[in-house]
Amino acid sequence: MALTARVRVEPMTLGDVAAVHEIERLSFATPWPAHAFEQELRGNRLARYVVARAGEQVVGFAGLWLMVDEGHVTTFGVHPDWRRQGIGRQLLLNLAELSIAIGARRMTLEVRVSNEAAQALYRGFGFDLAGRRARYYTDDGEDALVMTTPALDDPRMREILATERERLTR
Ligand SMILES: CC(C)(COP(=O)(O)OP(=O)(O)OC[C@H]1O[C@@H](n2cnc3c(N)ncnc32)[C@H](O)[C@@H]1OP(=O)(O)O)[C@@H](O)C(=O)NCCC(=O)NCCS
Repeated sequence: MALTARVRVEPMTLGDVAAVHEIERLSFATPWPAHAFEQELRGNRLARYVVARAGEQVVGFAGLWLMVDEGHVTTFGVHPDWRRQGIGRQLLLNLAELSIAIGARRMTLEVRVSNEAAQALYRGFGFDLAGRRARYYTDDGEDALVMTTPALDDPRMREILATERERLTR
């Protein structure tokens, strides 16, 4: 059984915020403060946040804003002890399905130019380079790459999503 078959992706609750914040802290030089997640969960009707759970443990999380006709990935992380086991892909599949469910045409995100791991994950998921935002990250002035999927109903995306769904059942 694939490990990810034992990892469930579920809506994030306020009770998950401490564990999510800990993964953020382990993953980013400037993590979102815990109250930012609380505000998003309580007050942002355009936001969707999910966690990946192995048993009761939160091992990853991801967020999406539904902006006009696109799903914009806002934040995304997997606990260092659980990386390279397909959980990032599983979270991204869930965000893609949320985007499709609300009628978004495509998905988009920003990623640090130095973040090759995340870029490799996104490219494998159909995201292509769409642009660059100079000094996007205010903590250290690093540029962001903008990456965007083809239309979510494009044959290439359908095939990627079908492969990812199939991977979870293996
Ligand atoms: C990026 C991140 C979410 C990936 O999560 P993950 O669960 O390890 O990803 P997966 O196991 O699903 O990896 C899927 C594919 O992405 C690519 N990938 C993931 N990590 C990689 C790495 N360190 N180096 C190169 N490629 C990598 C590979 O193609 C991988 O497939 P493979 O394992 O079959 O080779 C995780 O590394 C992380 O939390 N990083 C810190 C936070 C972060 O950068 N978030 C994104 C902000 S934009």
